[in-house]
Amino acid sequence: ARNLPREDGAFGFTSATAEDIDVFRSIVGEEGLVTDAEDLVPYNTDWMKKWSGSSRVVVLPKTTVQVSRVLAHCHARAIAVVPQGGNTGLVGGSIPTRDEVILSTSRLNEIVAFDAAGGVLTCGAGCVLEALDAYLTPRGHCVPLDLGAKGTCQIGGNVSTNAGGVRVMRYGALRASVLGLEVVLADGTVLDLLRTNRKDNTGYDLKQLFIGAEGTLGVVTKVAIATPPRPTAVSVAILKCPNFDVVLQLFALAKTALGEILSAVELMDSLAVETAMARCPGLKRPMELEDGAFAVLLETSGSCEEHDKAKMGALLDRAFAAEIVDDGVIAQDMSQAADLWAIREHVPVAAATGGYQYKYDVSVPIPRFYELVRAVRRRFQELSLAEDRAAAFGYGHLGDGNLHLNVVCARKDDEVLRALEPFVFDWVVAAGGSISAEHGVGQHKRAFLGLQKGPEALALMAAIKRAFDPRGILNPGKVLPDDPVSQ
Ligand code: FAD
Ligand code: MLT
Ligand code: ZN
Repeated sequence: ARNLPREDGAFGFTSATAEDIDVFRSIVGEEGLVTDAEDLVPYNTDWMKKWSGSSRVVVLPKTTVQVSRVLAHCHARAIAVVPQGGNTGLVGGSIPTRDEVILSTSRLNEIVAFDAAGGVLTCGAGCVLEALDAYLTPRGHCVPLDLGAKGTCQIGGNVSTNAGGVRVMRYGALRASVLGLEVVLADGTVLDLLRTNRKDNTGYDLKQLFIGAEGTLGVVTKVAIATPPRPTAVSVAILKCPNFDVVLQLFALAKTALGEILSAVELMDSLAVETAMARCPGLKRPMELEDGAFAVLLETSGSCEEHDKAKMGALLDRAFAAEIVDDGVIAQDMSQAADLWAIREHVPVAAATGGYQYKYDVSVPIPRFYELVRAVRRRFQELSLAEDRAAAFGYGHLGDGNLHLNVVCARKDDEVLRALEPFVFDWVVAAGGSISAEHGVGQHKRAFLGLQKGPEALALMAAIKRAFDPRGILNPGKVLPDDPVSQ
């Protein structure tokens, strides 16, 4: 028998009954339950308001033992469960497809230990990323990832999506910094992989399977993470490049001229900047950006302000002299640096403000970073989808070859969607890229996973899923193109 989705459209799981809710109450207490229809809405709706579920109960355990008991009960009763952290995911992974139980990690928010000598932080999965960074700041360390959702996303969600963000150039993807995990499997088994050593070559690195698994293999309850020393000298500049060819030249120059202190290279096209300016009041415009121009945000992080400033100054002199850059602003203090970063961080906020958006997060070879945006615009023209109906813009983590293509529309538009999918995914796969660079697969891309992963890889993924979650109760309808289950 298969679980969700069955060919007859039926849902292959048990809906939680009043008796089940009583069992959850006996485990987590009244304060750990949400059942009121109005209170359930934010848990059943994603950040972009694209996906919605109809869960009737959110369970908020406070300890690993409680997570284990909740899952053991759900496993025994074949009740499907959606793990949820800060619910900032952008692919529908944290939202039920039907009436699954939502297991929120928000109350697993304890800092367990900080080893100052080793720089290792151990904490509950529900700790908010920004709160962890605030804890580390006076201790001279920082979290090795930074993203626009930092005020809401949780470290367990970050681990489960292998979150990227704006520090990947410096510290690598999150999986490089995770030293250990505690995970509860679907049947309630607690898997203690919570090591804090940098090195551990004892066979299969099981924790890596849970990193980026989007809640399909287990519920992450604790995380041990390597935290780097906090840079004491940070400088930020936004530079204007008249076209994409010179953007590439600036990137090459920045890598050689700034070397080891280069910590972020972010790109925004003119429409991305203008959309943020128009829709997010309070942003400070650093410079005029004509149609077709690009803004490149460069950040350096080091330990000697004088040295780093001199390097940034020298880079700018060379870039202006070579006419790679024709305008720009260097932040004079941390408050100006925050203003420059705010523009970049508000691009996704702007895209989600008013109307409807189609969002793609792809890896592409760096020389072809911007081609997809042009290809989509051409396609809209060919299909007579005028700009006021569907406007495409590009931004993202140039340093990592990670383009974010967003298409904003006045409303949900099936014709625009048909123009975009599978076109975008086919284009990316043909270019040798990835259909998900950092946001994950979730509900959005599961039907397209086969474009990128061959049948052998998909079969192995299904076998892993069956080994960890034999009844398929964890996050059904996500990631895998089919839910492989043996009931
Ligand atoms: P959720 O959205 O709650 O969940 C995400 C997935 O992980 C779901 O599949 C869920 O089931 C699973 N999950 C959550 N917690 C657990 C757990 N403890 N155990 C098992 N499974 C779990 N992402 C980037 O990579 N880079 C960015 O730069 C970036 N910027 C963003 C900016 C904005 C404004 C927004 C809204 C989002 C951004 N994101 C970005 C996407 C999102 O913030 C990340 O994917 C983040 O890691 C999700 O964390 P979360 O706690 O909100 O997880
Ligand atoms: C970003 O880099 O801003 C994030 O990944 C979010 C997004 O693209 O919407
Ligand atoms: Zn991103």
